Amino acid sequence: MPVQQIAFLVWLLFAIIIAAVFGIIGWRSRQKVDVSPARVNRFRILLLVILLVLSVIFWAYTLPKVPYPTEARQPDMVVFVTGKQFNFGIATHPMPTEKEWEEVVNFGEPVVLPRNKLIEFRVTSLDVNHGFSLYDPDHLLIGQVQAMPGYMNRLRYRFTKPGEYTVLCLEYCGNGHHRMRGAFTVQ
Ligand code: CUA
Repeated sequence: MPVQQIAFLVWLLFAIIIAAVFGIIGWRSRQKVDVSPARVNRFRILLLVILLVLSVIFWAYTLPKVPYPTEARQPDMVVFVTGKQFNFGIATHPMPTEKEWEEVVNFGEPVVLPRNKLIEFRVTSLDVNHGFSLYDPDHLLIGQVQAMPGYMNRLRYRFTKPGEYTVLCLEYCGNGHHRMRGAFTVQ
């Protein structure tokens, strides 16, 4: 089941529960009942304890999954990506200058990236906006970031699948947009 559908069902369940609680309280408030304050207090404390226990379980389960600590980590390797009509220059040595760019794209050794390492792509463009999009060996889209002139956008990824990866452009950038691509290998 897609995660959006699970999220919708969870939301629906909680919405029904909340509506039901309001309905029951509304219905019950019509009847007159005598309650002792001590009993009400005990009930409130019980509710508080249940809420605290649920909160601790919820935090213990979700807090370790917060992405900020991993974002603060240094990447194991930096890969520089430069978009230019109609190709992607991909290099592990420092960012190519405009003069070096043709060389990187046309004659550069195909980039080979290690597996299970945190790779950071630093992506920019020499002309117009391009869409730097990563496709794994099974042609599944696994990541995307804009390549924009004057900006350096970052995309982090840890490759687990070895093989040939393809980079396609997902932002219409001119009459050669459909053939704009790049490639690299994961060992
Ligand atoms: Cu570059 Cu479309």
